[in-house]
Amino acid sequence: MIKKLHENRLIFVTGKGGVGKSTVTAALGQALANQGRRTLILETDTYSAMEDLFNFRSSGLKPVKLGPNLWASNLLAEDCFIATLRRFVPSERVARAIINNRVARVFFKAAPSVNEVTILDQVRVFFEETEGGRPRFDHVIVDLPASGHAVTFLNVPATMSGMMRGLGPIAKMAMQVSDIIKDERTTAVVAVCLPEEMPVNETIELSENLRTIIGRPLTLAMVNMVHRPPLDASQRQVFERLRHELSPSDEREANTLFDGSSTHANPIVRLIEGNAMALGWHDRDQKYLRILHERMREPVVEIPVFFEANGTEIVDHIASFLIHGDNDAEQNLAS
Ligand SMILES: Nc1ncnc2c1ncn2[C@@H]1O[C@H](COP(=O)(O)OP(=O)(O)OP(=O)(O)O)[C@@H](O)[C@H]1O
Ligand SMILES: [Mg+2]
Repeated sequence: MIKKLHENRLIFVTGKGGVGKSTVTAALGQALANQGRRTLILETDTYSAMEDLFNFRSSGLKPVKLGPNLWASNLLAEDCFIATLRRFVPSERVARAIINNRVARVFFKAAPSVNEVTILDQVRVFFEETEGGRPRFDHVIVDLPASGHAVTFLNVPATMSGMMRGLGPIAKMAMQVSDIIKDERTTAVVAVCLPEEMPVNETIELSENLRTIIGRPLTLAMVNMVHRPPLDASQRQVFERLRHELSPSDEREANTLFDGSSTHANPIVRLIEGNAMALGWHDRDQKYLRILHERMREPVVEIPVFFEANGTEIVDHIASFLIHGDNDAEQNLAS
C-alpha cells in the first residue's frame, strides 16, 4: 500500500482527535524509512506524540535522528515565526530587534493566521532543503493539528496571499506554500478516521471541501482500528448454525446472550458469545467502510486494530502492515 505514497514527497496527515492520527503518521514514517527512504516527521506545536513513541526529546527546529532514514521535529510556532522573520530581514541584528520588541511580538501573536503560515513555511523549508544536490528528505510527513479543520489550516497561505493581493515578499512566500499544498503530484493529503458514523461523514465532507475550497483532491482515506473478521465465510456459516441451535428459548436470556453481559455458565455458549460479539464489530465496521467506498472516489485503506498495550509496538505493526499487507489476518484465517 505504501507504494501509493512514494511519489508524494510531502504528506499531510489529518483526522479528528483520538482516531490514531499520530500513530498512523509515525507508522507511515517508519514504513517509508524501512524502505530506505529518508523521512522526516513533523508535528505542529503540540504535545509531541512522537517523543513518546520513538523515545527522544525534540531540539528546536533541528530534526532529531530517530533511526536509519528517520528524523522528527516538533515545529513550535515561536521558532517558526523567528525562522520566517530571519528569512525576510537581511540583518540578524534587525531581526533580533524585531523579535525582542514587546509590541511587535504582541502584534504578531494576535495577527490572524501568523502561526499557521509560519509553521507551513517551515514545512516548505524542509521540503525544499537539499544536500549534495538532492533533496535532504525523500518524504516530509506532517501530523496536522487535531483541533479545527485541516482545510482551514491548509488554506491559510492562499487566504493570506489573497488578502495581500499577491503583493510583497510575505504574499509571495504564502503563495509559494499554497502552490505546494495544491500540487497533488508531490503533495498528499491523507485522512485518518475510524469506521464509525461521524468520522466517516467528516471524511466525506473533508474530501469535498478539499476539492471546492483548496482545489485539490484528498489522496486517500485510512480507516484505522478496523476489526478483522474472527471467522472466514464458510466458518461463519457453521458458526451461525451452531449459534441458532444454542439460542435459548427464554427471551430475556436471548437478549443478553450475544452482547457480552450474559453470565451463562456453559463455556461453549460463552465462546459463541465472544465470537458473535467480534462478528458484530466486524459487520458494523464493514457497514461504514461501504458508505465511505460508495460516497468517495478516493482510495480507502483499512488498518486493523492491534491489541498490543504499547503504542510503539502498535506503530511497528501498522508499519509492517503498510508494507506487507495483513499477514496476521491471513494467517489467523488460514489456521
Ligand atoms: N490500529 C490501532 N490499533 C490499536 N490501537 C491503536 C491503533 N491506532 C491507534 N491506536 C491507539 O489509539 C490511541 C490514540 O492514538 P493517537 O495518539 O495516535 O491518536 P491521535 O488521533 O493522534 O490523538 P490526538 O487527538 O490526541 O492527537 C493510542 O493509545 C494508540 O496506541
Ligand atoms: Mg496525535
